[in-house]
Formats: sequence, structure tokens, C-alpha cells
Amino acid sequence: MKTQRAERNRTLTITDLDRIRLKDRIIEYTNISADTDFLDKTIHGDLLQVIKNIPDRFADLIIIDPPYNLSKNFNGLKFSASDDQTYESYLELWFSDVHRKLKPNGSMYVCGDWKSTAALHRVISRYLTIINRITWQREKGRGALNNWKNGMEDIWFAVNDPKDYFFDVESVKMKRKVIAPYKTDDKQPKDWIASHEGNFRITYPSNFWDDISIPFWSMPENTDHPTQKPEKLYAKLILASSRPNAMIFDPFLGSGTASVVAKKLGRHYCGIEINEEYCYFAEKRLETADNNHEIQGYVNNVFWERNTLPIQRVIEKKSRNI
Ligand SMILES: C[S@@+](CC[C@H](N)C(=O)[O-])C[C@H]1O[C@@H](n2cnc3c(N)ncnc32)[C@H](O)[C@@H]1O
Repeated sequence: MKTQRAERNRTLTITDLDRIRLKDRIIEYTNISADTDFLDKTIHGDLLQVIKNIPDRFADLIIIDPPYNLSKNFNGLKFSASDDQTYESYLELWFSDVHRKLKPNGSMYVCGDWKSTAALHRVISRYLTIINRITWQREKGRGALNNWKNGMEDIWFAVNDPKDYFFDVESVKMKRKVIAPYKTDDKQPKDWIASHEGNFRITYPSNFWDDISIPFWSMPENTDHPTQKPEKLYAKLILASSRPNAMIFDPFLGSGTASVVAKKLGRHYCGIEINEEYCYFAEKRLETADNNHEIQGYVNNVFWERNTLPIQRVIEKKSRNI
């Protein structure tokens, strides 16, 4: 049945014509051979089967957003919450192969919530060196009556070699409104810029991220995937931890966020997804990215705070002299 959407709802839809047009772009697991080229591809299949076909040391950066230890329905594929030990064994099952796909100087980010994070930490630490943990403050969902509403997620940052990995902090600076506009003795702004649109400071990011909203229906990046990650979040990971033309690999591709952002930022990509409909989401988003490299919240090479879209638009127009 076709879902009725409000007029301003920009959630991606897939039609039968889209499926016909996009089908050939998706690699079916059963069609993989020794000659298959995985560059800039979406693979439809079970990671546990596909992974043995992916060459070792293939990726400069691996982004992993696995099913969390929660009961969730991914378009018919039901994932059930389990005890910690069972969840850890599930992680081990694929992580022991996936980590081999990282280049010796490569980096990895792994997403999780509070319930999954201890098991994730143990499994990642067996194979890689953990460098940091990012806390993403995300706002979504109703409050709970008998518990604290979960408002955060972890993103573990790990590398193969802590003495040899790429990290470009200059590419992920933030533009923040100045709360206390201190001035120098000669009345000049101290580390901030005054403009008609307000006073701003360009700052280096910390491992606490409170500037990123979950995709919602009025955003063009939104799909019907139940746990889609924001493009802005993945843009930070990819810019900081990969060079242009690097290979970004996502073994749980979902709606395609990692591949789409990699493409928009001039990187190569490869993703595996078990659900065919989500492979279509990914390919349709990748098709749109042929001509549109916009990432909401990342404008003129800086990341903006939440709820600053009107100001961003004014400044962008000015910078293009419109
Ligand atoms: C948390 S979601 C990833 C969402 C993604 N980061 C995005 O932005 O859309 C996990 C995805 O892994 C897929 N998945 C689960 N088990 C899988 C498996 N064994 N092989 C490949 N994909 C799998 C699910 O269908 C789901 O789309």
C-alpha cells in the first residue's frame, strides 16, 4: 500500500520504475566472482557470507553501525535483544573477519547505545587500539515514565596502528555562536568574528557532539529506514579520518549513509546490506548525489550548530553573491 505523505514531507520513496532502473547497480551476493569489482558498489547479501569475498586490507576507513542489543524490525528482518554474552558472541562472529579489511594505517568507527557499548568495547579491543569514544547527544523519542529517556549514543574510534593513522582535525571545525563576546584591549573581537548574522567563533571539535539531529521527515536525506544515521555525523567521521579518494567500507549499510557521504566528499565506497529494499534506498540516494553534494549542517567547510539553517542560507547566498 502506498504511504500518504504530508506535502512538505521529503522522505525518499522508491517506485517500481526506480527498482527497474537501479537493479543493475546492486551486486547480488550470488553473482560475486573472482573478477567482481567492489569499488563504489552496494552489495545485497548477508555480511557473514559476503565478507570472505572482500579483499583483506581493502579499506582506509570502516564505519560500522550494527544492530544494537535491542529488539528491532529491519523491514521484516527481526533482531531480538539478548543477554550481554549472546550479543558479544554475535559481534565476535563478524568483527573477527571485518577488522581484517582495514589497511594497516586505517581507522574504524563503531556505533552503539549504552546497552551495546560494553560488549562493543571488549570486542573491538581484542583486535584494534581504541583511541577515543565520541558521545553523540541525539534528541528523539518520547520520555520514559519509569526511566531516563536515552539521549545519547557512543561511537568508538579505533585504529590498527596508534603510531600511524590519518587524522585531519582542521577539516571538522565548528562554527558556534559566541555567548560571551570578549574583546581585546583595543576593542577587537577576541577569537570570534562579528557579522550581520551574529557573532561566531570557529572552534576545534571535542568528543561530545551536540550539533547533530536525527534525520526527520522534512530533510531530503530522510528515508523509512528505522535507524538511519545523519549525513552530518558521517561527514565528520569521513573528513577527519580519510583522505580524498580513500575507500570507505560499511558492512551494515542500511539506507546507504556511509556510501552517500563518501561520494559527496570525493571518497570511494563499498557497502553490504542484507535487505534489498534498503539497497534501493542507498542506490537512489547515491544517484541523487551525482548532482547534489549538499550535506545539511556542513556549509563552506565548517559544521554549524543545530537550528541555524536560516542563517546558513543567508551566509551561503552572500558567499555566492546571489
Ligand atoms: C543500524 S542499521 C544501519 C543504518 C545505517 N547506518 C544508515 O544510516 O542507514 C543496521 C543495518 O544492518 C543490516 N543488517 C543486519 N544484519 C545484517 C547482515 N548479516 N548482513 C548485512 N546487513 C545486515 C540491517 O538490515 C540494517 O539495515
